[in-house]
Amino acid sequence: MMAKSILVTGGAGYIGSHTCVSLRNAGYEVVIVDNLCNSDASVIDRVEAITGKRPVFLQFDMCERDELRKVFQRHSFAAVIHLAGLKAVNESVSQPLKYYRNNIEASTMLLETMDEFGVRNLVFSSSANVYGVPDSLPVQEHFPRYATNPYGRTKLIIEDLLTDLHSADSRWRIALLRYFNPVGAHESGRIGENPSGEPGNLMPYISRVALGKLPYLHVYGGDYPTEDGTGVRDFIHVMDLAEGHVSALQWLEMSPGIAAFNLGSGEGHSVLEMIAAYEDVCGRKIPYRIVARRPGDIPASFADPSLAQRELGWKASRSLHCMCVDEWRWQTVHSAQNA
Ligand SMILES: NC(=O)c1ccc[n+]([C@@H]2O[C@H](COP(=O)([O-])OP(=O)(O)OC[C@H]3O[C@@H](n4cnc5c(N)ncnc54)[C@H](O)[C@@H]3O)[C@@H](O)[C@H]2O)c1
Repeated sequence: MMAKSILVTGGAGYIGSHTCVSLRNAGYEVVIVDNLCNSDASVIDRVEAITGKRPVFLQFDMCERDELRKVFQRHSFAAVIHLAGLKAVNESVSQPLKYYRNNIEASTMLLETMDEFGVRNLVFSSSANVYGVPDSLPVQEHFPRYATNPYGRTKLIIEDLLTDLHSADSRWRIALLRYFNPVGAHESGRIGENPSGEPGNLMPYISRVALGKLPYLHVYGGDYPTEDGTGVRDFIHVMDLAEGHVSALQWLEMSPGIAAFNLGSGEGHSVLEMIAAYEDVCGRKIPYRIVARRPGDIPASFADPSLAQRELGWKASRSLHCMCVDEWRWQTVHSAQNA
C-alpha cells in the first residue's frame, strides 16, 4: 500500500519538526512548506538523520498562492497539518497587523487551495491561549473562549473560520488541537527549540541561564494566588504533542465533523518547580529574580485532556523529569555544535 502523504506547514519549526518525526515513525510521507522566518533549513537534515528519510522541503511563504497551488498540483495529500504561524504574544501586541496578515491570510490561502484540490482533512495548531483567563481548572474544551492578545485572537478567528467552513460544507474534517505548553526535545538531541533573541518561553530561557549565556532568569510574578506565588502551567513534552498529531490524523479518517481537543499533560507545575526540576537534571544552580507580572500573563492554567484520551486514544506519557533531561541534552549538543 502506498504511504499517505501529509502536508506540514511550518514543519521546520519547533513543534513541526518533531511532528514530522512522529509522522515518519507512523509511516506517513511528509512534505514541508516553511518560509524559515523562525527556523533553519538544517532542521531538514536533522529530521532525515533521525528518521532515515528526507522529507520533501519547499521554502516559501504560505501567502504565496501560486507556490501553494503548485505543491497541491505535484502531490496528492491525505491531509494537512497547519502549524505555520507567528507565535510571540508580546510581539503580537506591538505589531498586530503582522500577526493578522501572517496567521489569518496564510490560513485562508491554504483553505482555499485545499478546497480547490479536494483535500478537506485538516489538523490545526490552536492554543490554550483561546481560553483567556479560565474561570476554573482544569480547562475543558467547552469553556468560554476569548483572547487577551492579538496572537490569541488570530487563533480564535481561525477556529471560528474553520467552524463556519465546516457548517457550509460538511465534507471538511477538522481537528482543532489546543496545545498547552510544549517543552523538551527529541531524545536524540538533534532537534529542539532554539529561538532567536531573548526567549519568550520559560524552558529555552532557563536553558540559556543554565548554559551561562544569560546571567539569571526573570520570573514574572511572585504574588499569584498559587502555592508558591509563581505562575502555574501545563507543560507537555513536545514528542507527546507531536504524537497527538498522528492520533488526530487517524481520528479524522474515521470521524466526519469538527472538534477541539486539549493537548496537555493535565498537570500544573509552577515556574519554581520547573526551575528545581531543571537544576536536578543539569546539576547547576539556575539563578533567578522575581520581577513584576508580565501584562497578559495569567496565574494558572492546566488542561483536562480526557476528551483527547477518549476520542483520539492519546495521552501524554512523558514526565517533567524527562522533559528536562531531553531539553538539557538538546541544549548541550546544540551549543557544543555551535561553539
Ligand atoms: N510553542 C508553543 O508554545 C505553542 C503553543 C500553542 C500553539 N502553538 C502554535 O503551534 C504552531 C507551531 O509553533 P512552534 O512553537 O513550532 O513555532 P515555530 O515558530 O518554531 O514554528 C512555526 C514555523 O512556521 C513558519 N512560518 C511562520 N509563518 C509562515 C508563513 N507565512 N509561511 C511559511 N512558514 C511560516 C516559521 O518559519 C516556523 O518554522 C504555531 O501556529 C503556534 O502558534 C505553539
